[in-house]
Parts: sequence; structure tokens; C-alpha cells
Amino acid sequence: MAGQIPQDFIHDLLSRIDIIDVIDEHLPLRKAGRNHHALCPFHDEKTPSFTVSQEKQFYYCFGCGASGSAISFLMEHAHMGFVDAVSALAERAGLEIPNEPGAQRSQDHTPLYELLKRAANYYSRQLREYGVAGGAVDYLKSRGLSGNLAAEFGVGFAPSGWDNVLRALGSSDEVVADLVRTGLVIKKDEGGYYDRFRERIMFPIRDQRGRVVGFGGRVLGDGTPKYLNSPETPVFHKGRELYGLYEARQGVKDIHRLFVVEGYMDVLALAQFGVRNAVATLGTAITKEHVEHLFRVSPEMVFCFDGDVAGQSAAWRALELALPLLRDGRQASFLFMPEGEDPDSYIRKEGGAAFEDRGKAVPLSDFLFQTLSKRADLTSLDGRARLVEIAKPLISKLPEGGALQQLMHKHLAEIARIEPEFLTTIIKGGRQAQQGASNPRRGEGGSASPSLVRSAITLLLQEPTLATLVRDPSDFKDADVPGIGLLIEVIRLAQAKPDITCGAIVEHWRGTDEGRHLAKLAAVPHHLSEAGIKEEFSGAVKRILELRNRQRRETLLKIAPADLTTTQKQELRLLLAFSSPSEAGTTEEMEKLG
Ligand code: GTP
Ligand code: MN
Repeated sequence: MAGQIPQDFIHDLLSRIDIIDVIDEHLPLRKAGRNHHALCPFHDEKTPSFTVSQEKQFYYCFGCGASGSAISFLMEHAHMGFVDAVSALAERAGLEIPNEPGAQRSQDHTPLYELLKRAANYYSRQLREYGVAGGAVDYLKSRGLSGNLAAEFGVGFAPSGWDNVLRALGSSDEVVADLVRTGLVIKKDEGGYYDRFRERIMFPIRDQRGRVVGFGGRVLGDGTPKYLNSPETPVFHKGRELYGLYEARQGVKDIHRLFVVEGYMDVLALAQFGVRNAVATLGTAITKEHVEHLFRVSPEMVFCFDGDVAGQSAAWRALELALPLLRDGRQASFLFMPEGEDPDSYIRKEGGAAFEDRGKAVPLSDFLFQTLSKRADLTSLDGRARLVEIAKPLISKLPEGGALQQLMHKHLAEIARIEPEFLTTIIKGGRQAQQGASNPRRGEGGSASPSLVRSAITLLLQEPTLATLVRDPSDFKDADVPGIGLLIEVIRLAQAKPDITCGAIVEHWRGTDEGRHLAKLAAVPHHLSEAGIKEEFSGAVKRILELRNRQRRETLLKIAPADLTTTQKQELRLLLAFSSPSEAGTTEEMEKLG
């Protein structure tokens, strides 16, 4: 979702700009029929399948599945972060991003950035002036780092002593308070302040605009903790930043591939060997935000992990995060380090070629099947069925209908030794079958229901004003069908904002599974007339209501008549009286109610 920026503002913003103008500035569009077209900027193609709909305020590519609002376009194409993309659009629309109470971005963080920059300068000056005496220069040399590289990454040195930074930068009470906010200085409970980083090699962490937002500090010898990082601050979030990303983007013009490693020293060692396209997480597990950010910068990711159990499980986490993002043209693979090595020691032993050789990395799909195959005995039929069962939810996380999903289906069918067509049926029918088993229904309305909800949502995305045809979406809130909650929310949103576009609806769910689902449905073209689309939608809503009533009736019929409350009896009587002829309650059932 939009995070700190109010949703209402996003709606307002999207209703004031035109996605056609925004995209056309980056990519000349040509109008053909109702839509605008261009060669897709997100994958290689010879004939245009990138489509922008002015009506929907939404773009989508039939080739690679990329899709989204004007905000998504700026994020994906211009590599902007969410807030930057919103700011750019706001500026163009002449709107000011409102301050929400508690919103962090509403505060002015300039003084913190300024202080962090001064601190980085201070630390690197200390390295130059006192690094030799303090042992820092020897340490860096012993780790094989050249002075040039250290300078390029702004590596510095925090000398020993409790108040160096405090004295060098803390010129007034106000500045000291800001130093505390940057995490560089800590306030003592009993009063007074002291430096967080003492006698450590300092690695400045820069955000994507090159501003220093925090530091990692390593002890010179064997002390503990080995690494100390800046705490979370208003400008520093470990789950978002990546060490070395700014430097990689400065050093490599067009990044085709990124190595994701675990340590600061790994990034530096790789850079020392000419592998400039490496980034590291900041001592925490990789997050969804990291992976999304990385794929905006580069189409191919190589995750480097230890070969041990911890490394395998960290790699699995990265795999799960990467799956939804692997649309056509993107790739991920895993490079497992030999026992006892990390990327730093490995590249020193084997040289840069060990990283450039693609053959050494395990493609994501191989890693997925290798891991799953360990969890199921493929020699037995049961085991192969189990493999299908556990692979299914993972494969369905991939972009729907993309090349990778198709290949994975094919591969799964091969190792499970079943017909690919049969596999497709199992996978498509999986959710419905499970649903049906836990709650048996008569007739075929039940089994067709998920697609009913899906088609209602799809139609609404095409034509949000259809929402006005629904009296009160809560009427079907207890229908037991996947997706019903989302349908209700979309209807409510479109009822509350009569001029909302498809793009703005999808935007409302940014960053969520629902959002990804909606984006897929939004790209489905329809060929219905205005009257046709209304009829189709009303029909779907009516059938969902019928389904809800049928489910409710069955639930109530399972209760012994004597145990029904008066309200439940009345409800059941109504339900029996109004059901369609084929399912109408028998007189016997009616009589039992008295
Ligand atoms: P070197 O020993 O300098 O080669 O470090 P490394 O980069 O190989 O470190 P290691 O593999 O032990 O850890 C990888 C990353 O985890 C580091 O770069 C840090 O970000 C983080 N890390 C390691 N040790 C600590 C620690 O004691 N505290 C914290 N907060 N983070 C750590
Ligand atoms: Mn190391």
C-alpha cells in the first residue's frame, strides 16, 4: 500500500494526471483504436505488445505481463522509488503531498543527511590522518583493499575514544540531539552522551541517491560484536537499503546482472576483483522490498550464499520473494559457496572468473525442484503426488502465463511423470477441489464460483461504475468463495469514489498479493458492449448472492429444527421460500419448521 502517503491523495493525484502523457515522455506512444501502443520497454520485442489504456489509466504488456499505473511506470521504467514517483507526478500536477499525522516523510530530514555526510567525511579524514597509527590502514591492506577502492566506497575509521564525533560535530544542543537521531551518538540514561562507533573501520551506507544514511563498523581484530550497524533511524531502514547499490550504479552504466552477497567485505572484495555489480544486505535477512528494488535496477539476480544449511534456507527465502517478480526477461540464480568460503575468500582464491562463469550458478528453477525433490520420495506415486502438491503454490506465485511458469509446469509434469494437460487440470482445479471438499455443495454453481468472483472483479476493473449496480456488497459477505472479500472491497472503493479508474484501483492495493492479482485481471481485455458488460456483471452478482443463500440454507438445515433460534427459523423460511425452483425447499422441510 501507499505507506505514509494518504490513499486519498494517491487517488486524487491519479485522477489529475494522464498516464498517456506520463508514459509518452519516456516512450513515444502510437494510438491505434481505443488504446496506445509501443514496443515494450520491459522486454525485447519486434512488434508492439505494450498497451496503454487512457480509459483505464493503466498499462500492460501482452508479451511479458508488465502492468500498472502511472506510478508503477515511473518505478519500473525510471527506477524511481514509490515516494519519488509520487512526488514527480505530484509536481507535474501542481499538487503538494499532504502531511499525514505521524508521517515520517512530512518531517524535514535535511539536517540528518547533512550530519551523516559530515560524519562520513570525518571518518575518512581520520583514516587518512590517523589510520596508520590506529592500525586501520594495516588492517585494510591485510584484507587486500586498495586505497583507491576504499576512497571510492568512502571507507573511514572511527578512532578509539568515547566522544570524537560528539566533539567534532556536536556544536550545539540542537546538533547533538540530531546526532542522537542519526544513531551516531548515544544518550546515557544518567545524562551525557557518547559515540556509538569507536575503534572501527567505517563503511558508509548510501541510499539510491547517494546520500549517506547509516554506517556499518567493523572491529579491527577479533573483538565483539564483529560488526556494529547504525540503528533504524528516520532515514535508515535496513530492510530497504543495500550496501554497494549506489556504487554499483555509479560504476556500471547498464547493469544486466547483480550479485547479492551477505557482507560488506564481500562487496568490496568483489569490486577489488573488478566485479562491480555486487550488493549486500545489512546483516539482516533479505526482504521483499530489497528484491523488488533490485529487479527494478537489473533483470538478472545472482544470490550468493554459503553452501551450508543456513545458506540453503536463506536462499529459499530469496527464491520465494523472487517468484512473483520473475516476469519474462527476468532471471534469478543461486551461487553456493564451497564449504568454509564466503564470496570474499572465494574470489581471492579463484579470481573474478568464478563469478563471471554462469555455469557455476544454479538456475532458480533447478534449485526449486532440487529442494522439493528432497522433501518427496519420487520413486513412489504418493511421493510424486506430494511433489505436485508442494510445487503447485510456488509455481502459481510466478507471473501468470509467463514463459517461466510454462516451463516449470512442463518440468514438474516430467518429474512427477504425469501428462502436462492433467497437471494443468490439477493446478487450476486445486483450489476449487479443496474448497469443495471442506464444504460440499450441490449443483455446479459451487464449483464455478471462484471464476464468478474473478469475472465480477475483472468487469469492475474495466468499468468501475458498475459498482453502482450493487445495492450493498455486504449482502454477500458470508459467501464462502475465494476472493469474495476483495470483490466487496473493490465495490466499496468504487462506490465511494465514483470517478475512480482501473489504474487507481490497482494502485490502491500496491505491494500486496491482492494488488498483483488485480493487476493481472486488469490486463484481461474484454469485447463486450456497454449493455453487455452490465448484464454480465449483474448476472455474476446475482449468482454470487444465490450461492451465498444456498450455502447459508445448507448450514441452517444441518442444525436440528429444535435448536434453531427464532431469527434463524425466519431466515431459513425465507431462504427456502425464495430459492430457485430446482432447489426450492420441500414442503416437508418447511413443515418441520412449524
Ligand atoms: P569479515 O569477517 O569482515 O569478512 O566479515 P563478513 O562480511 O565475512 O562477515 P560475516 O560473513 O561474518 O557476516 C556477514 C554480514 O553479517 C556482515 O557484513 C554484517 O553485515 C553482518 N554481521 C556479521 N557479524 C555481525 C555482528 O556481530 N553484528 C551485526 N549486527 N551484524 C553482523
Ligand atoms: Mn568474510
